[in-house]
Amino acid sequence: MRKSGEEKQKPIAFFDSGVGGLSVLAVAVRCLPAEDFIYFGDTANAPYGRKSKAEVQALSLQAAEILIEHGCKALVVACNTATSAAVHVLRAKLPIPVIGMEPAVKPALERGKEGKILVMATPLTLKEEKFQNLCRRCAVDLSKVLLLPCPTLVELVERGCTEGTAVRAELERIFASIDTASVSTVVLGCTHFLFLKDALQQVFPAGVTFIDGNLGTVRQLKRVLAEHDLLREQTARQGKVELMTSGGESARQLLHRLFADVYEKTEGLQ
Ligand code: DGL
Repeated sequence: MRKSGEEKQKPIAFFDSGVGGLSVLAVAVRCLPAEDFIYFGDTANAPYGRKSKAEVQALSLQAAEILIEHGCKALVVACNTATSAAVHVLRAKLPIPVIGMEPAVKPALERGKEGKILVMATPLTLKEEKFQNLCRRCAVDLSKVLLLPCPTLVELVERGCTEGTAVRAELERIFASIDTASVSTVVLGCTHFLFLKDALQQVFPAGVTFIDGNLGTVRQLKRVLAEHDLLREQTARQGKVELMTSGGESARQLLHRLFADVYEKTEGLQ
């Protein structure tokens, strides 16, 4: 269906429990430079990964309503946890296309590397039916896959800690019982973990592949916008990015700092 020019001019909305989804937003801004974006980090309620499914559904709906009030043409759930708990509810209730994300288990399997695949995500993502279905669909051989819930890493990133002593100590604690030499592929199944990628690479032997779902999610966003005739003309114009948080001034500053960092790291992507 052809859409009016006015509809196409609306921003694309993103939300996450906090800063994690900025890693997806950065890829989207690179790949869709003419679009405007609006981001909501639900810092006041982060983290989502230790909450119940019902709580995450309620918070996701609340976040989506805030973004819809601002007027947006599509919603990206830039959070694996919120997607697993709430994407079906959002799709049923919202009048705009909703794009979710899931741990990149399929691309990890397709690489066909020897060795184990380690999936790092939140406790809620790993225990949800959506993830179990994904493993079934991909015919995952459970003897080849290690599932690692890492809620404390989300909390570190939410405090702005992405490197240094506290991060190294926590990674050491988490990986103490894991044979890192047996791992060939690490799936970053939580958008917060992108901010720890450099620190995580220090924990594993060289040659271990790190996979995330960010580019795949943005490609899906682009497909969905095109299907709904909602893509702007991709002129050289640089769109606007608005960052919002349910937290206070320090949360706002952290969003801006981490977005600048992660946007710089995506240079060259398109
Ligand atoms: N960034 C989120 C994810 O991708 C959730 C982190 C949390 O709030 O626990 O799963």
